[in-house]
Amino acid sequence: MKRLVVLISGNGSNLQALLDAYADGRLAGRVVRVIANRAQAFGLERARLAGVPTEVLALRPYTADGRGRAAYDADLADLVAAAAPDVVVLAGFMHILGAPFLDRFPGRVVNLHPALPGAFPGKDAIGDALAAFARGAITETGVMVHLVVPAVDAGPVLAAEPVPLYPGDTRADLEARIHAVEHRLLVATVARFQPPESAP
Ligand code: GRF
Repeated sequence: MKRLVVLISGNGSNLQALLDAYADGRLAGRVVRVIANRAQAFGLERARLAGVPTEVLALRPYTADGRGRAAYDADLADLVAAAAPDVVVLAGFMHILGAPFLDRFPGRVVNLHPALPGAFPGKDAIGDALAAFARGAITETGVMVHLVVPAVDAGPVLAAEPVPLYPGDTRADLEARIHAVEHRLLVATVARFQPPESAP
């Protein structure tokens, strides 16, 4: 049974997909801790309902008092390490992790991103895809799950799946289509992911 620590910032529907897959016996991976960088993240409620311990660690106090991002990343790594994860899943975690975090969990931090490899890195991949479709630059977008390296939305790809775009798509239409693929792809990828042997 893999131990999963999931980092979130918002709704947590992908966290829910992992929780449901474990509860149904489709995933041999148990979420042992959920950590958010925003106290209002609805995913925290999802975790509590599933009986999973939660933590909140916000960046703002670190930038306000000058400790900075490296100190935040190091403290976040301590919180994650305390749960002894086999896999750290970034599921809608809107903070770019640096070396003070990533060096603590080499080869075991996985990110979900709503675009195909090499396309639309950054915060608004769905909006960027809609804009690119509107000007005729693309005919499809997609979803990927990848290992996290210091470059944003890059790193070895573990899984990717295209998602079609249709004329007249609203943002809500595309989001719903992408989320449905994400929920399935994230569960399948975490299920078959083999983390490095040594514990963090
Ligand atoms: C997903 O689209 C994910 O790809 C992106 O943030 C979104 C999180 O959705 N990084 P949710 O919080 O899991 O519902």
